[in-house]
Parts: sequence; C-alpha cells; structure tokens
Amino acid sequence: MTGRVEGKVALITGAARGQGRADALRLAQEGADVVAVDVCGPLPGVDYASATPDDLAATVAGVEAAGRRVVAAQVDVRDLDALRAAVDDAVVRLGRLDVVVANAGICIPRAWHRVSPEILRDTLDVNVTGVWNTIMAGAPHLVAAGGGSVVVISSAAGLKVQPYMVPYTTSKWAVRGMAKAFAAELAAHHVRVNTVHPTGMATGMGSEAMQAALGEAMAENPRPRHMFTNMLPVDVTAPEDVAETVLFLASDESRWITAHEIAPDAGVTEY
Ligand SMILES: NC(=O)c1ccc[n+]([C@@H]2O[C@H](COP(=O)([O-])OP(=O)(O)OC[C@H]3O[C@@H](n4cnc5c(N)ncnc54)[C@H](O)[C@@H]3O)[C@@H](O)[C@H]2O)c1
Repeated sequence: MTGRVEGKVALITGAARGQGRADALRLAQEGADVVAVDVCGPLPGVDYASATPDDLAATVAGVEAAGRRVVAAQVDVRDLDALRAAVDDAVVRLGRLDVVVANAGICIPRAWHRVSPEILRDTLDVNVTGVWNTIMAGAPHLVAAGGGSVVVISSAAGLKVQPYMVPYTTSKWAVRGMAKAFAAELAAHHVRVNTVHPTGMATGMGSEAMQAALGEAMAENPRPRHMFTNMLPVDVTAPEDVAETVLFLASDESRWITAHEIAPDAGVTEY
C-alpha cells in the first residue's frame, strides 16, 4: 500500500523528542524520509529537563525501523548559518525536500510581573526567529522541488490566549502571522504554509517541572487558570494525536489548504 507521504522528504526541527519525534515517526510510517534537527542540549531558562543526543538517536532509530532514510543534525534553530548548512547537506544526501515542520520551541511560564527581559528574549529568539530561520533554510528547496508544505507548530496560545506566559503567547501569535505572510508569497511556487494549534500535550515540555512553575503563577492569581480547560473531557493530549494533523498538512490530501490554522486542541480555544 502506498503511504500518504510516500517519497517525500520532511525537515522537522525539535525532532529529538515530544511533538517533533511523533511527527518524524508518523511521517516515516507513511513513507517519508526525514531530516531530524535538534539542539539536544541545554535550553535557555526552561524549568524542565532538556533533550539529549540519545533522544535524537532514538528518533533516528524509530525512522529507520519504519524503513525510511534519516539525516540527523545537532543544530540550534537560532543559528541560521548552521541550519542552512545542515539542511543543504541533507538535501544533497536525500535528494529533495518537500515538507518543513517548524516545531522546535520553548515555554517558560511565569506570572506577568515575574517575566525577565531574558525570558522574553530567549522565547522570541527560539520560537519566532527560530521558525523564521527554519523556513528560510527549507523553503528554497521546496521552491526548487516545484512545491511543498510548511507546517508551523504554534499552540492554543496562538489562537486564543493562555495566561501566565506572556512571552510564549506573544511568540505563538507571531508565528501564526508569519505563516500567513509566507503563505501569501510562497503560493506562487505551490508552497503551502499553515499553523497547528495544540492544547496541552504530554511531552518533556509539559512535564511536572513546568506544571510546578505554572502552579506558582496560578497560586498568585487563580482566576485565569480556567482558560486552560478543554471543551472535550480530556486534560492532556498526546503528541501522536497532533502528529495526525501534521501528517494531513504534509500530505497532498490538504493540497488546497494554505494560510490557515488547524487546531487539534480538544476545543480549548472555543471554550
Ligand atoms: N507540550 C505542550 O503542551 C504544547 C502545547 C502546544 C504547543 N506546543 C508546541 O509544540 C512544539 C514542541 O513542543 P514539545 O511539547 O514537544 O516540547 P519538548 O521540549 O518535549 O520538545 C521540543 C524539542 O525542541 C528542541 N528545541 C528547543 N529549542 C531548540 C533550539 N533552539 N534549536 C533546536 N532545537 C530546539 C528541544 O531540544 C526538544 O527536543 C513547541 O513549539 C511547543 O511550543 C507544545
């Protein structure tokens, strides 16, 4: 049986674990080769443990177990030159690029008056400039291939609003606008650009350490905590759930969908 993204090559940032790994494995199961990029090292200012080279190796093993080729690179998405070099090299090795999943991100929850200038800067550097860098490194190859799909992982925080995370919410609205702006120009090359807006997921980011930081902010000002409540009766979703949306946007099934938001968010953004 032919896979839903058979023969395509997908670049995924933040691929060592969590959402990025789930995307890499799901796309590989449906026939895509993968370029797996991750910094695999200390993330600036976060409360949770950072990903490791072993995590990225596990993603590589998973893609290979699905019978697909994979090129992995340990790169910080804040470094455009390094990202371009890694992507260019991977395209030489895998032959083409059809899909870009700009997924790498960080989240540092704090009550608004406890956000430092460093937290704001680091969040925007990774979540906004990092996404721009990823698209700038990948899109020329999509144009060269005659078309493709860019999937930007935003958040429910980029559709509605989530409290206790002013920098993160700012960054996730920013990339939603960025995606539409890229879509307007890249349409001429049959390149589609869409955003995905998950609710809370069980990943390294959403770990107990981050929940504790959120809890501190909630204790100071409890009322807005209800903004996290999902409409469907589920508290946390799995990255594998969101990977189904990414797969749809990566595949030709969504060939006329561009400049849009898709929210596998359990209804939180309408609740
Ligand atoms: N977990 C959630 O509840 C949730 C909800 C909505 C949206 N998201 C978004 O989903 C995406 C993935 O998050 P996750 O939950 O899988 O988190 P995660 O921390 O488990 O995984 C993120 C990966 O990105 C990598 N990364 C971070 N900064 C990087 C950088 N500068 N350069 C290269 N790699 C970098 C990390 O090393 C890590 O492997 C993020 O954009 C996040 O904002 C997460």
